[in-house]
Amino acid sequence: MPEPGRRPAIAILATGGTIAGAQSARPGLGYVAGTFDIGQLLAAVPGLSTIAELHPEQIANVGSQDMRHEVWHALAMRVRALAADAAIDGIVVTHGTDTLEETAYLLDLVIPAGKPLILTGAMRPATALSADGPANLYAAVALAAHPQARGRGALVLLNEEIHDARGVQKIAAAGLAAFASPDRGLAGLMHAGEPVFYRPAHGSAARVAPWRHAPLADPAQWPRVGIVYAHADMQADVITFMAERCQGLVLAGVGDGNATASAMQALADAAARGVAVVRASRTGRGRVGRNVEVDDDGLGFIAAGDLNPQKARVLLMLALMSKPDQATLRDWFDAA
Ligand code: SIN
Repeated sequence: MPEPGRRPAIAILATGGTIAGAQSARPGLGYVAGTFDIGQLLAAVPGLSTIAELHPEQIANVGSQDMRHEVWHALAMRVRALAADAAIDGIVVTHGTDTLEETAYLLDLVIPAGKPLILTGAMRPATALSADGPANLYAAVALAAHPQARGRGALVLLNEEIHDARGVQKIAAAGLAAFASPDRGLAGLMHAGEPVFYRPAHGSAARVAPWRHAPLADPAQWPRVGIVYAHADMQADVITFMAERCQGLVLAGVGDGNATASAMQALADAAARGVAVVRASRTGRGRVGRNVEVDDDGLGFIAAGDLNPQKARVLLMLALMSKPDQATLRDWFDAA
């Protein structure tokens, strides 16, 4: 943290999204994400430079549905460098809300949990009446500048609510209250420009894993991990198709991470051929427990616990970079 009298130095890494979006001139099309650059976003937030010394950078300018591994890699490398830079006190990432939880979890896994790292976005484009982006950005910078945000890994801040990257989910396609942490609850709130945290910082000691400090491979080398979404009368051929193309599969299963008998058999066949198979739930909350309803150990599956499918995909992809055996992979999921 800065010496007394110096404003905290906050890096702001922009990646696009609705926070940088403009309403479209085309009739019928609501808005286009990733239109404004970081300079324009900052100009829309009066007073921001009075609370922090700002260091803006444009990493990408995309709608987050187009968040590619190349951008993740560039962002993670930059955040790692800034995390190690003594001249920077905190980091803010602006991001589209659609895949924000995945990026937050990826960064949470690959960055040591020291310096404040805050991801934010907006549900309304920058040109909308009562756009939420400027208030979210202001709050994110205030949070990144606050000493209590240290040691918490990546945090997500929207709508005055602070979430841990591990537990946050986008739960609504529209509306300002689009984010929740259904199983683990809010990490805290912003109140009168200050964070109120509901639990102590966790640090990173208990979360040692190879991907946290190891060099991040070139994205072309990242294992391909797909998500298969279960439903009534699910057919096995979808799984066979994906298993031929992926090193890892995550089942977004019904209920407790389940699927039709034929789909489960296809997953077991894939696991027997060396594809890493993780069972998660499509329900949005609750735990998928090992060997509870499905014989995970017998069939070669990993249970995702309370990681949702999209976050289980991120963890599995990072884990597979180290080519772990099944027991190690299970341990990493249990500890995640
Ligand atoms: C996006 O994720 O880039 C579009 C939606 C949003 O930011 O709210």
